Amino acid sequence: MKLYDGGKIFIGLIIFVAFAAFPFYFNVGKVNAKPEPKTDTPAIQEWEKQNGKKQCVESKEFMRTEHMQLLNNWRDSVVRDGNRGYMSDAHTKRFNMSLQNECMRCHSNKKKFCDECHNYMAVKPYCFDCHIAPKEEEKS
Ligand code: HEC
Ligand code: HEC
Ligand code: HEC
Repeated sequence: MKLYDGGKIFIGLIIFVAFAAFPFYFNVGKVNAKPEPKTDTPAIQEWEKQNGKKQCVESKEFMRTEHMQLLNNWRDSVVRDGNRGYMSDAHTKRFNMSLQNECMRCHSNKKKFCDECHNYMAVKPYCFDCHIAPKEEEKS
């Protein structure tokens, strides 16, 4: 291969990468800083009052990386086995395996919580095409 072609390919690559990455940094600029998922909803404050601390279904670290898988398991369990009860590893509470009635009861700030993080990471779960999202007031 001649050096000349190598240079062309290299420049082509740079241009390609710049374009491929565009939606990513464009989005980051738009949603500005790194998202800080807010967990100050009424249901979470109520839980904190009763249990002395804020808790998710499992540990925060687990939830951060595994919530998609957990939701898949919940769906399979409900739809295939008709089982709606979930015992948490993290604490001795029983949860109702439901996206809209359990996750979204606590995370009723979907836009500020789920959406903000997903937009930042450029993922777009389609779940709420069917499942009902919590009603939220537009504040801004
Ligand atoms: C009882 C209320 C409650 C329920 C039900 C609940 N969460 Fe949470 N969730 C929390 C709280 C509180 C935190 C923050 C935990 C902490 O700070 O240790 C949290 C944290 C998280 C995080 C990590 C956020 C971060 O900052 O990285 C994700 C993701 C998450 N929840 C998703 C879900 C999903 C999906 C479901 C349903 C499967 C769910 N949660 C159900 C209260 C809840
Ligand atoms: C701290 C950031 C963060 C928060 C908060 C968060 N998510 Fe996610 N979510 C992610 C990331 C990152 C992925 C993509 C992971 C992957 O592709 O492996 C994801 C993927 C998903 C997926 C799978 C989508 C797909 O197409 O595979 C679902 C479903 C989901 N999230 C639901 C929720 C719900 C519901 C909430 C709010 C209760 C929530 N997430 C809050 C970061 C977050
Ligand atoms: C095409 C419509 C549709 C889409 C899209 C969809 N679901 Fe569902 N989902 C259903 C139906 C219907 C049920 C059964 C409801 C029942 O039996 O309570 C269900 C049940 C569930 C359940 C257990 C019951 C409950 O109340 O939540 C979970 C968890 C769930 N889905 C998660 C998800 C997640 C996560 C996504 C996105 C990755 C998703 N679903 C996308 C239609 C859909």
